[in-house]
Amino acid sequence: MNQDPLWYKDAVFYELNVRAFCDSDGDGHGDFRGMIQKLDYLLYLGVNCVWLLPFYPSPLRDDGYDVADYYNISPKFGTLDDFREMLDVYHAAGIKVISDLIVNHTSDQHSWFIESRSSLDNPKRHWYVWSENDQRYLQTRIIFIDTEASNWAYDPHTGQYYWHRFYSEQPDLNFDNSEVQEEILNVMRFWLDMGLDGFRVDAIPYLFEREGTNNENLAETHQFLKRMRRVVDDEYPGRILLAEANQWPRDLLPYLEPDEFQMAFHFPIMPRLFMALRKGNRQDVVDIMNDTPPISPENQWCMFLRNHDELTLEMVTEEQRQWMWKEYAPDDRMRLNLGIRRRLAPLLDNDIRKINLLNALLFSLPGSPIVYYGDEIGMGDNIWLADRNGVRTPMQWDESKNAGFSGADITYEPVINDNGYGYQKVNVAAQIDKPDSLLNMTRNLIKVRSAHPVFGRGGFTMLEPENTAILAYERELSEAAKMVVEGAARVLVVANMSGEEQKVTMGIDAVQGTDLLTGQTHHLNGPLILNPYEYLWLKLG
Ligand code: NOJ
Repeated sequence: MNQDPLWYKDAVFYELNVRAFCDSDGDGHGDFRGMIQKLDYLLYLGVNCVWLLPFYPSPLRDDGYDVADYYNISPKFGTLDDFREMLDVYHAAGIKVISDLIVNHTSDQHSWFIESRSSLDNPKRHWYVWSENDQRYLQTRIIFIDTEASNWAYDPHTGQYYWHRFYSEQPDLNFDNSEVQEEILNVMRFWLDMGLDGFRVDAIPYLFEREGTNNENLAETHQFLKRMRRVVDDEYPGRILLAEANQWPRDLLPYLEPDEFQMAFHFPIMPRLFMALRKGNRQDVVDIMNDTPPISPENQWCMFLRNHDELTLEMVTEEQRQWMWKEYAPDDRMRLNLGIRRRLAPLLDNDIRKINLLNALLFSLPGSPIVYYGDEIGMGDNIWLADRNGVRTPMQWDESKNAGFSGADITYEPVINDNGYGYQKVNVAAQIDKPDSLLNMTRNLIKVRSAHPVFGRGGFTMLEPENTAILAYERELSEAAKMVVEGAARVLVVANMSGEEQKVTMGIDAVQGTDLLTGQTHHLNGPLILNPYEYLWLKLG
């Protein structure tokens, strides 16, 4: 097991939905024993840390982000013993495991809320945010705009309104109440005691409410998050906290501090990678990277292309959003809230050159990458399913019944079964022996990245050669790191974002570079020619 306290800087993460991964007992839902069975696959792929989507008991209004009991797991996924065994087996194989921690809100079926709403003087009344009217905090945006008209919901039993940032079935906890704070810290301890390696902490900008603000990123919220981090550092050193805050990079800086989160998702770069690719022009990526301030050496960005939610377009202008919808979500059904409910392969026209290219950027931009389960084999989506379920369908292992995911007659959601992306064609078994398959290309990127810590730890310099179809940047280890870290010290990444052949003169001090992915040498003292969507990871010096 990697004992380096900065392990997350070198890690490749895999976002795994236990429900969707492998069903060991034939009830149509994936479970922890199924996850144990699939360990070899994750070892083959080469990922180092798995992020588990919520597995706690839940009525599933928000697919588990509505927790009904923090100290248990949903019986559909197995038992606490199964969970412990999974952790042991994964740890023994060198894979770390983090899970979602949902602290901003609970399910309305949680016993705390059932008590809270039962009377005005119930001891749990102030565990949630109640109000006489729905006119408070009016400067707060609504997140699930397709479903919710207000952040307040009326509770007829006590005649008051309760506050919720997401579905009305997800009442927000009241962090002004010290009992709530203590309880959440205890929830953390419960899972960390079991051996979990950390948390992806959900919806963190919204913990506190203050009149006259937009109720995001408040100072009080940061104070509590620092308490969470102190628990980790004092009682569980080496475990990590990853921030889910859909904000601009500069607004994320207060979260990404040595005394708060080790990691934070870089949300705004994600749509811009898709924008640059569609335009065949690097500028959107250049702009957002120029707008990404430096962070301290202990901290790390977390990069992703897709996840279990809609491809969020919150961090773009209105004009860019309309353009993204037009280009990537031509059918209304593909749109949800401020985003696009599609998977990676369909977004990229199932063109393996484009998928490999975006992966090559995902794995070489500064930060640690996350692969969303199924995207490594180019799984499709089902836009006709409700909410975001269309990107959460069963993992496609082989061409047998239910894609080898489950022996049940009915699975929690149907397996993808259409011409382009059906499990009969898109599955692990069909790709594993083919060196050029998406699975093996992704695996190779992971392998090369993992052999060269410069990708996780090195500095970043954007280059702007004359040809704007070319996105190019350098990653370089500091002088101090060069002494202790293995692999290439300086890497030049060159990517042709367009579907045309491109010629580019790099104009840097190196005369040649060796592609870490193919072993081929490229001369840099003259122009480079790149095929459509071609990318190079050139080791310099
Ligand atoms: C962010 C999660 O990624 C999303 O799936 C969920 O609906 C909201 N937070 C609310 O918990």
